[in-house]
Amino acid sequence: MDEMKKPRRDFLFVATGAVVAIGAAAITRPLLGHMAPAGDSPLLHGLEVDLSLLKEGEQMTATFMGKPVAIRYRTPAEIKAAQADDTADLPHTETDRSRLRPKPDGKLDHRFLVFYPICTHFGCVVVGEAGDYDGWYCPCHGAHFDTSGRVRKGPAPINMEIPDYEWVSDGVIRLRRLPLLGFS
Ligand code: FES
Repeated sequence: MDEMKKPRRDFLFVATGAVVAIGAAAITRPLLGHMAPAGDSPLLHGLEVDLSLLKEGEQMTATFMGKPVAIRYRTPAEIKAAQADDTADLPHTETDRSRLRPKPDGKLDHRFLVFYPICTHFGCVVVGEAGDYDGWYCPCHGAHFDTSGRVRKGPAPINMEIPDYEWVSDGVIRLRRLPLLGFS
């Protein structure tokens, strides 16, 4: 399969603690107001990301605390494939639902996958909508990840990691700061 065959709608957002956005011209302007530090300092309070402008099949990437965090609005087919493969022979066993976080009402929103788009082999940034499982592909040494970000093939030892985040409302997540010495 041609790993790069599909057009991608990935958008890059850079937010190193402040409100900064870079990305596709069509949506850069409206999204400037949709990513903001929670409270006075993202170091202390995290970064809130409004997902309301993200459409089905789109992905955004925020850089927070020096690491990229991807949020993908999965299609029904991607969700179905991820759930169906819960029972597959997975190198790193995790269910799709275990990789999601509940909304304030306690329910999971299976559409949004939030993850570090970093290959767990040697840390390359993965390519979306690619690979044998139509999830992500790492071009460095050929790791394939499914639509839940789970490794399925290649040298990556574990699934792509899920950042520490929470839903603060129906359409907004907060990326929590990394643990820092001296802060609680
Ligand atoms: S860094 Fe991704 S397969 Fe090696």
